[in-house]
Amino acid sequence: MEIVVFGAGSLGSLIGGLLAREHDVTLVAREAHVCAVRESGLRLEGAIDGGPSRIFPAATTDGTGPEADLVVVTVKSFDTRSAAETLATGSVDAILSLQNGMGNEATLAARLEVPVLAGTATYGAILQEPGVVECTGRGEVVLGARAGGPSPLADRIGEAFVAAGLEATVAKDMPRRLWEKLAVNAGINPVTALTGTENGAVLEEPATDLARTATRETARVARACDVSLSNREALAAMVDVAEATAANTSSMRQDVLAERYTEIDAINGYVVDRAGEAGLEAPTNRLLTSLIRTWERGRGLR
Ligand code: PAF
Repeated sequence: MEIVVFGAGSLGSLIGGLLAREHDVTLVAREAHVCAVRESGLRLEGAIDGGPSRIFPAATTDGTGPEADLVVVTVKSFDTRSAAETLATGSVDAILSLQNGMGNEATLAARLEVPVLAGTATYGAILQEPGVVECTGRGEVVLGARAGGPSPLADRIGEAFVAAGLEATVAKDMPRRLWEKLAVNAGINPVTALTGTENGAVLEEPATDLARTATRETARVARACDVSLSNREALAAMVDVAEATAANTSSMRQDVLAERYTEIDAINGYVVDRAGEAGLEAPTNRLLTSLIRTWERGRGLR
């Protein structure tokens, strides 16, 4: 299969590198990273079957739309619209969004005339330096139709992922899975970013109250949006991820450390907006959103 990974940061590079063991993969990423990959390949380190490996996916920074059987979109949520505009100038058969936050699939589908699948990825990844990505935890890719239900296309893409040795599952309940991931991110990401801690901190007092409340609020808003996600299920998912990634630096904390704009709008900000539409309050998500936005404004990022 010809696969383009659009937005090859840490997670995209890891997924692209793993897929390149079986498929023809092109990474679209920032200049320095792409130059390093072009010169000496992509080095995968950490929790990789068979130990560290050097992989040579083709690489490009060309801004024109790619041609591919599949584009895996891994850009930050605030870059989804511009990614869709670039992809619209190319020729691709299918898109899979593996992004944090909500609303990405709708943004892509509104601008592209090809099927857009939804997905989540729990692999832990850190870009150590241009050309070197470390897998900090083996996870799983879950993908499926964005509105839920069966999808032969998702089945084929799931098989292609498994053929490359990735853990991949095709799910018929993607809306629920996306809300569950949102509830996990709403608890872990802003709390670790604001307190400068690893993910495991949300399991301990005093951070755990804040993270749990944000996760519970998100589940309540999900139910108001007709998604069946109980508080207990959302909390269990948040705790599972925090335990499995206890030593990891969340993506939002990585953004804050690098003084970059964060995905707060598509995570806690999204929860606050949907709560408002449903006539609910989400005070903890609102507080976390305000604090991160204030930090962004202070850095001249917003
Ligand atoms: O955004 C992230 O960092 C990840 O989605 C998660 C699940 C919080 C693990 O670090």
